[in-house]
Amino acid sequence: AVFPLSTSWRYIVQGANQIINAKHLHAIQLLLPWLDLKRSPSFDRHSRGICERILNRSDDRLTPAKPLSAGDKLVSDNGVFALGFFSPTNSTAGSYVGIWYNNIPKRTYVWVANRDKPITNGSPGKLVVTNNSDLVLSDSQGRTLWTTMNNFTTGATGTSAVLLDSGNLVIRSPSGTDIWQSFHYPTDTILPGMQLPLSTDDDLYTRLVAWRGPDDPATSNYSMGGDSSSDLQVVIWNGTRPYWRRAAWDGALVTALYQSSTGFIMTQTTVDIGGKFYLTFTVSNGSPSTRMILHYTGMFQFLAWNSTSSSWEVFIERPNPICDRYAYCGPFGYCDATETVPKCNCLSGYEPDGANFSRGCRRKEEPTCSGGDTFSTLRGMKTPDKFVYVRNRSFDQCEAECRNNCSCTAYAFSNMKNGSTSSDQSRCLIWLGELVDTGKFRDGSGENLYLRLASSAVDRESNVLKIALPVIASILILACISLVWICKSRGKRRIKETKNKYTGQLSKKSKSNELENETIELPYICFEDVVTATDNFSDYNMLGKGGFGKVYKGRLEGGNEVAVKRLSKSSGQGADEFRNEVVLIAKLQHRNLVRLLGYCTHEDEKLLLYEYLPNKSLDTFLFDATRNGVLDWPTRFKVIKGIARGLLYLHQDSRLTIIHRDLKASNVLLDAEMNPKISDFGMARIFGGNEQQANTIRVVGT
Ligand SMILES: *[C@@H]1O[C@H](CO)[C@@H](O)[C@H](O)[C@H]1NC(C)=O
Ligand SMILES: *[C@@H]1O[C@H](CO)[C@@H](O)[C@H](O)[C@H]1NC(C)=O
Ligand SMILES: *[C@@H]1O[C@H](CO)[C@@H](O)[C@H](O)[C@H]1NC(C)=O
Ligand SMILES: *[C@@H]1O[C@H](CO)[C@@H](O)[C@H](O)[C@H]1NC(C)=O
Repeated sequence: AVFPLSTSWRYIVQGANQIINAKHLHAIQLLLPWLDLKRSPSFDRHSRGICERILNRSDDRLTPAKPLSAGDKLVSDNGVFALGFFSPTNSTAGSYVGIWYNNIPKRTYVWVANRDKPITNGSPGKLVVTNNSDLVLSDSQGRTLWTTMNNFTTGATGTSAVLLDSGNLVIRSPSGTDIWQSFHYPTDTILPGMQLPLSTDDDLYTRLVAWRGPDDPATSNYSMGGDSSSDLQVVIWNGTRPYWRRAAWDGALVTALYQSSTGFIMTQTTVDIGGKFYLTFTVSNGSPSTRMILHYTGMFQFLAWNSTSSSWEVFIERPNPICDRYAYCGPFGYCDATETVPKCNCLSGYEPDGANFSRGCRRKEEPTCSGGDTFSTLRGMKTPDKFVYVRNRSFDQCEAECRNNCSCTAYAFSNMKNGSTSSDQSRCLIWLGELVDTGKFRDGSGENLYLRLASSAVDRESNVLKIALPVIASILILACISLVWICKSRGKRRIKETKNKYTGQLSKKSKSNELENETIELPYICFEDVVTATDNFSDYNMLGKGGFGKVYKGRLEGGNEVAVKRLSKSSGQGADEFRNEVVLIAKLQHRNLVRLLGYCTHEDEKLLLYEYLPNKSLDTFLFDATRNGVLDWPTRFKVIKGIARGLLYLHQDSRLTIIHRDLKASNVLLDAEMNPKISDFGMARIFGGNEQQANTIRVVGT
């Protein structure tokens, strides 16, 4: 009774009630890991009865008379985005209302309404747009879990909430104006066309807040947005501590530009609208789906959907792995990305203070502040943090500002005429005291940073240079000649090593993606839709009839076809056990097995949805005098090999070890290229699978 692969959970528990003694308890403990598998969250969700609609493509809007309940979804006009209830794969917290890509096979959420207040399990929620132009999410007890709080009291009729193809959910008044939009309340994602306000005095100022984990939309400690000390900067915080900082905006129209290998171009920009700054990005026409997110690890990522590999490809990730984190090189140290491997260095005129840059760098010589100090120009720099923004200064005035103030250590100047709309287009930054979180960019972007040095330090440096230069030069020439020999022999090896290191990292990443993709979400389809798709199981749509029930052809929206197997009611299996089996069987995937697309239960009904194969079954060829001719020897051999491969997979290579018990020509279906696909392969499990091996008492199938 307790053989794991053939018995349902409920059966074991019933059995356990009867066999409470130590010996059996041990056996039950051995089975516990397996029981956990059976109670996987995706199964829990299915037993809560949230089915997925496949037909009557949902509307793109809600009205006061038409709320959204569990199982419904809104789909934007062109089907790009969907909004509905969801429970993350490995989460038991409850369900959420969110927006996801409707046309991407890997479920990817771009917005979540009630991220910190999930709807508790078993309580179907409801999302309503009220006459007062608010969206209200409540649970079955009527508790409000999330609302937009627009505070209108007009009670206007004709309000609606519309999901747009941009991924924006807007509340639209009867006159057509947008009262509220989800783009103003982002969670962790920026979509093309969305603007993240960077100015803290903006009414809509907000930060991206990362998910707490891959399956937990709750707010985490990582946030990203405009810096309160200066609108010009974007910062990622870990709690209250900065984790990464983008250099102060210098007025450039394009702050970053990337071209993908497939040719599309992404432009990241800061825009100035009426003196307020916004972070936004655009992509060129014809590009795939793209998004910017604050990942739950605290990384800011730019991702694009790769339909070939069916995964999200990370284009840009900040902070960079090496010395890009906030203030990594300490005060007066900088991260030099022009080196092959970025590393910390001291700004000129400074030397390391302690090992490993733990305390950064210290001055070799204090400036006298006598007016004789000079400014050294450092090119291509990331402007340090903690500056004072002095308004209305020309370049010379900016320098004077720094020169005349003894505590000023550096200045930077930019003319923002390209990007700024304000009347003062100067951007004079001065630093009083430490210079932290600076760097030198590899690609030549970055600004000039003018660093105050004692004049004597510069003089001595140049005197030393005059004497040393010829000596160094001759040493260098000699060194070069010998280096060429060494490099030639070693260089090749090193390049190889570096390459391996990076490809190693990459393959690690794609491996973890593979694992993510592995969790199979088998759609639990709504019964009404199956009824509609098969025209209420009309005989006209019947494809065949077998020991396990009848098979119908179903037509989905857009003309796609499925085969619907309606199981006979004699299986003796409960709905839960059935679901359980189906979720397991869905994990069997092989090119010579018919693909299971979804399932459905309703009262006594148990339905399985399979891919529809236009060439029907093998027997329609074998036993038909005219079609027989199609089966020449090469085709026959291909069919035989395919069946054998599918069987080998079922018997040996799959996780479930299945004996078909009803393999016959009518259970071998053929696709358009005459590739055979075994059907009905899970039936032996679904129907009284508690016989093992040969000792079958019941006569099954043919
Ligand atoms: C909204 O207004 C319509 C028309 O006045 C009314 O029939 C409906 O009951 C109102 N809905 C709510 C939830 O108050
Ligand atoms: C609506 O009122 C609530 C509570 O008074 C307030 O917190 C919220 O900011 C208001 N919403 C708007 C859009 O003004
Ligand atoms: C964020 O802060 C927490 C607590 O201070 C720390 O444990 C964690 O390592 C930090 N994360 C990163 C990525 O540095
Ligand atoms: C240096 O400039 C800062 C900011 O403008 C100012 O607060 C400070 O008083 C100045 N210090 C001196 C010595 O002038």
